Amino acid sequence: MPTTTEIEDFRRQAHAAVEWMADYLAGVERYPVRAQVAPGDIAARLPAAPPETGETLAAIIADIDRIVMPGITHWQHPMFFAYFPANTSPPSVLAEMFTAAIGAQCMIWQTSPAATEIETRVLDWLRQLLGLPEGLHGVIQDTASAATLAAILTARERASGFSGNRAGLGAAPRLTAYCSAEAHSSVEKGMGIAGLGRENLRRIPVDGRFALRPAALEAAIAKDIAAGARPAIVVATLGTTGTSGFDPLVPIGAICQRHGIFLHVDAAWAGSALVLPEQRWMAEGMGLADSIVVNPHKCLFTNFDCSAHYVRDPAALIRTFTILPEYLKTRERDRVIDYRDWGIPLGRRFRALKLWFVLRHYGAEGLRARLRRHIALTQGLATDIAAEPDFELVVPPRLSLLCFRYRPAGVDPAAFDALNQRLLDALNDSGALYLTQTRANGALVLRVSIGQTYTEAAHVARAWAAIRDTARRLSVLRDDHGERKA
Ligand SMILES: Cc1ncc(COP(=O)(O)O)c(C=O)c1O
Repeated sequence: MPTTTEIEDFRRQAHAAVEWMADYLAGVERYPVRAQVAPGDIAARLPAAPPETGETLAAIIADIDRIVMPGITHWQHPMFFAYFPANTSPPSVLAEMFTAAIGAQCMIWQTSPAATEIETRVLDWLRQLLGLPEGLHGVIQDTASAATLAAILTARERASGFSGNRAGLGAAPRLTAYCSAEAHSSVEKGMGIAGLGRENLRRIPVDGRFALRPAALEAAIAKDIAAGARPAIVVATLGTTGTSGFDPLVPIGAICQRHGIFLHVDAAWAGSALVLPEQRWMAEGMGLADSIVVNPHKCLFTNFDCSAHYVRDPAALIRTFTILPEYLKTRERDRVIDYRDWGIPLGRRFRALKLWFVLRHYGAEGLRARLRRHIALTQGLATDIAAEPDFELVVPPRLSLLCFRYRPAGVDPAAFDALNQRLLDALNDSGALYLTQTRANGALVLRVSIGQTYTEAAHVARAWAAIRDTARRLSVLRDDHGERKA
């Protein structure tokens, strides 16, 4: 047991740490959004050798402000518009504290029945909240990348008659996979890791709204079959990372059914918006999916990491991953879920606790109100951008993402990419806000993702003013009277 002194010190420091956390969340706006340090700055503050003697908790905690905070990019800052959000929230932080203190490793039912049973129930709550079909079984993975890899591995095993794990892929026909040209890089990464080869992933062209073209998918599948390959999986995306494209699940699902192909739906970002009945248009055809991934750790106020992975046929997933050494056998094994069989790692954190806290604390109503606000703010910004002649709205708002670029008249269009990169760097170097870039139709564009829990209209207005002012300072521009300035 810990000594009384140790526990009393822990109690004191923990109280102080909670004070720090509350102050941090309340005062996050005083920090620059993106860390303003140079490579090596933080490492230079750390001794090269580990400590020989122990230090007090108080001394270590003091280094949070001295060493750690200068090197933190503040994802909880309401001026954070980069990537997608990774929101935390008071209920989520509290749950993580309990998870850390309890310190359970929840690989199988027996190693913490509460973790398994809460995970099962809470993922079914989330399924209902998202309006996903019944008959889907949920498991929490660390990331969408891991869920997509699990889907690729399951599809590989299914297409190879479950011989890949046992005998390797040497004897199997070449397995091919399909996703849109806009799909997330995790699909390609998964193909490499699964041993299927990145070259066997077909990137299907998209239409004007960045959605996969079903006819091109059908043609690619036919071509592969004619060449002796076996199509194993299609990964359809709801909400592509760069350009918010939504692949049409109904025709894609029909193609998959016709050819016996596994259909995985990557709704990592946009899936959270399914809590809004008015956004369920994107889910038409979801009943045709073999698996789906949605990330509560993006827009559902559950701190990283927590990725909800739903499968129609848990038996196929389990057959792909299970392996039973003597030391993992339990007497109730046939009557319970052992989630270690549902993914890659053996060990598992008690992630369901934070999702349980979040869903209970906000309720469906609270989640919907916050997501609706983010979508409305994005629409408002799009209207402002569209009204500005020197800016172009390249990807109109879908949910809470839009992309635009600065393209002042009188500047050679060939210079637009470099100009927008300079604009992005200047904005992020200012520390006032944080944006990222992508390519749309070949052009470098700035992405704005509005989803940080506490982002309000005033923050978006401030961001837009900073973007316009910085752009004007950067190059030869129109002034307010329409004249050219050097
Ligand atoms: C559409 C999509 N899929 C997958 C991912 C990867 O998510 P994760 O970091 O959970 O692996 C992202 C990340 O933004 C994404 O936008």
